[in-house]
Amino acid sequence: MAVTLTALDVMSDAPVIPVIVLTEVSQAVPLARALVDAGIRMLEVTLRTPVALACIEAIAREVPQAVVGAGTVRGPADAQAAAMAGALFVVSPGYTHALGRACHDLQLPLLPGVATASEIMAAQEDGYTALKFFPAMQAGGLAMLRAWKGPFADVKFCPTGGITAANAGEFLALDNVLCVGGSWLSPADALAQGDWPRITRLARQARELKA
Ligand code: 3PG
Repeated sequence: MAVTLTALDVMSDAPVIPVIVLTEVSQAVPLARALVDAGIRMLEVTLRTPVALACIEAIAREVPQAVVGAGTVRGPADAQAAAMAGALFVVSPGYTHALGRACHDLQLPLLPGVATASEIMAAQEDGYTALKFFPAMQAGGLAMLRAWKGPFADVKFCPTGGITAANAGEFLALDNVLCVGGSWLSPADALAQGDWPRITRLARQARELKA
């Protein structure tokens, strides 16, 4: 990995970026260890629960093999909070120039969410060319990514939303897709039960999705 982490590095490390929702701080470190044990190091902890920032802090402090990022970053304040907690990258469901500027100023790699050509153009204007396609299945799936290859040949995508172990391979086969995002590596029931071996198994299968 480069000394200065870029969004492209985040998207190139493994075929899947796990989208993680944690309800207990105590889940954070064992989950991160279960994922990195399988070679999944880029971890997106979504800012959807009251404990999310504390979870990011715990992983940043205690799991040095992990590269922890924050997801569901919806504006500059979220990005600032994520950076303070130790997030090394951020992922957003959509894109605004304010968020793009804030991440640039914080020197925080951003994977901005896009679902339309205009949103891709707005992100590109601000220098972002490694983008999250969200919500991928609902917004056009494989066909949309194929259509974007013509006008946006220089853009790489991380489709997220509705991606599963069953359909991830089809997305990863597209040459404008570097990785996919998905919540299937950290199922709520496995987290609640502390079933870390199951999470490592899911992550190992995910790691093998792309040669
Ligand atoms: C999300 O925002 O929750 C992500 O897009 C994950 O979606 P998924 O649960 O369909 O993988």
